[in-house]
Amino acid sequence: MAEVVIVPTADAAGALVAAEIARLVRARPDAVLGLATGSTPLPVYAALREALTGVDVSHVRGFALDEYVGLDPRHPQSYRSVIRREVVEPLGLDPDRIHVPDGRLDGIEGAGDAYERAIAAAGGVDLQLLGIGSDGHIGFNEPGSSFASRTRVKTLTRQTRADNARFFDAPDDVPRHCITQGLGTILDARHLVLLAFGAGKAAAVAGAVEGAVTASLPASAIQLHPHVTVVVDEAAAAELRYADYYRETWDAKPAWQGL
Ligand code: PGA
Repeated sequence: MAEVVIVPTADAAGALVAAEIARLVRARPDAVLGLATGSTPLPVYAALREALTGVDVSHVRGFALDEYVGLDPRHPQSYRSVIRREVVEPLGLDPDRIHVPDGRLDGIEGAGDAYERAIAAAGGVDLQLLGIGSDGHIGFNEPGSSFASRTRVKTLTRQTRADNARFFDAPDDVPRHCITQGLGTILDARHLVLLAFGAGKAAAVAGAVEGAVTASLPASAIQLHPHVTVVVDEAAAAELRYADYYRETWDAKPAWQGL
């Protein structure tokens, strides 16, 4: 099962995960990071500035989970822009090694397969950061997504568009379509790190970690993966049935083990 770590704050989660990423990059300078967007991973990126101080990041590679379809790549809310602003520039990564699915309409039919080939050519993702949608999506794999799915175009649910409206001037400005790594793509990463903060994520987290494995809750796919770390604050952990057990396990964890 997933290792569940309950931390007091999002900043504590950021520090914990950033330390693990720094450990990975020190051991493997051309590590392949799976990058997530949205609010959730921001504390990780913030903590990485310090955690990566003095670490050579010039060979680090990265693949974002998803992108909006039909949004100008230069739009400030395109995930290409977000990844550049939140990750590439502050951490000093090589932009040529950091990839985002191509959501431009011209050529969209081939964009999913091209992205899959690029991930395979890089040797796969070492550590995949994941947020979780209030509807249980990971990446933009909305409820009903096949566990075998690969990178492809999807339609966003009304709930996801409402959740993401805060990033746009008007709710109708949120694109209807996205291109996202599939659940099968995500499950191929060697280590999944799912983060969630706040009461709005509690039901989705409990379902993903302890509920039935079902396409109706795409994040429950993590139960099929052999190496998953779920890092949540108290509010997001509130509906976990075995929270006390997770705390005991974490307290008793040998320091050498890493995440
Ligand atoms: P959020 O989104 O981090 O902005 O809450 C999570 C997600 O949709 O995966």
